[in-house]
Amino acid sequence: MTTLLINIKELLQVRETSISKVSGADMKKLPVLENAYLYIIDDVISSVGLMVDIEIASADKIIDCTNKVVLPTWCDSHTHLVYAGNRAQEFVDRINGLSYEEIANRGGGILNSAKKLQETSEDELFAQSAKRLEEVIQLGTGAIEIKSGYGLTTEAELKMLRVAKRLKETYNFPIKTTFLGAHAIPANYKGNQDGYMDLVINEMLPKVAEQNLAEYVDIFCEKGYFTLEDTERLLKAAQQYNLIPKIHVNQFNAFGGVALGVKYNALSVDHLEELNDDDISALQNSETMPVALPSCSYFLSIPYTPARKLMDAGLPVALATDYNPGSTPSGNMNFVVSTACIKMKMTPEEAINAATINGAYAMGLSETHGSITVGKAANLIITKEIESYNVLPYAFGNNNIEQVLINGKVI
Ligand code: NIG
Ligand code: FE
Repeated sequence: MTTLLINIKELLQVRETSISKVSGADMKKLPVLENAYLYIIDDVISSVGLMVDIEIASADKIIDCTNKVVLPTWCDSHTHLVYAGNRAQEFVDRINGLSYEEIANRGGGILNSAKKLQETSEDELFAQSAKRLEEVIQLGTGAIEIKSGYGLTTEAELKMLRVAKRLKETYNFPIKTTFLGAHAIPANYKGNQDGYMDLVINEMLPKVAEQNLAEYVDIFCEKGYFTLEDTERLLKAAQQYNLIPKIHVNQFNAFGGVALGVKYNALSVDHLEELNDDDISALQNSETMPVALPSCSYFLSIPYTPARKLMDAGLPVALATDYNPGSTPSGNMNFVVSTACIKMKMTPEEAINAATINGAYAMGLSETHGSITVGKAANLIITKEIESYNVLPYAFGNNNIEQVLINGKVI
């Protein structure tokens, strides 16, 4: 099956050689071909170029992209998309004055989601999660990472990861999975944090690894959740199973989680709403991707990750949704990109780089996704008729997407 996109007004993120991420001042550069074509054979990008140079005369399917922008699909490197039910009541409680912390201390928050998930059958959990996945694909997401962490028992954590794996197989869609058993201390371990860490490390971790259910390991390194000591214990234990860290750090407090992640070669450190100079120094000369989650900042009214500071220090930044029922009940990467421009003062070029190639890097997919590169997966967004790509973040809240292609097929 061959597909030819012609008359593309702007073809974004065209990278001749396969680069794995962009950093610092380079994030301002977004390679664009104007009046371009893109040729797909089966599920892969086969060639790209200018319309004036086109030599391909026919294809099984031709899509005219006059006045439309084409770009690689969004790479959402941080989600908790597999969850049960919702926490709309806590949303209302927050409007009425309770804080996120107060809700969590009353047994709400992550523990509330864990209770719901434990009571939900695997098939039902799959059905709810599949609906969310289908929705975000329509919104232009073409690769995604999914964490466990709403199970908090061995069986429920494995159930979440099995559901994520089943999504990957059912949809033939790039999904990376992360084991986040250390997301919160369950009620029956209250006052026995070490006991819960023992369970995570000695029982859950080996099963996750043995059943090949995750590639990455995560922990909520935060006051009131897990300490630096817990984090180090887990990351050390995970090494023997080759589970690479991608960790929650600095959401509410900065106390050394970033440096610890770097020490254990974390692929990414995520959140970073609170960030100090030591964190920046730790990230310099590392291969760890800082990941910002602006929809979470928006929803919880907490600070935005200082992306400008990171980029000015020569560092890369990736953008992701953090799709979850508590702090970010939205998987919309278009909103993330807009919010990064509006609230974090990222330029459209920086935000698009952060949401494509750098997002792919942050989940180990930059060899196959995140740019328009010959040989990469034909996962593409075709916009509606727009003046230029600046309109994507500018017209925030609008649906600017007309079509999404996954593995070369319009879905
Ligand atoms: O990334 N910060 C930790 N975990 C999630 C939210 C957890 C929840 O409230 O359900 C996050 O924001
Ligand atoms: Fe998260």
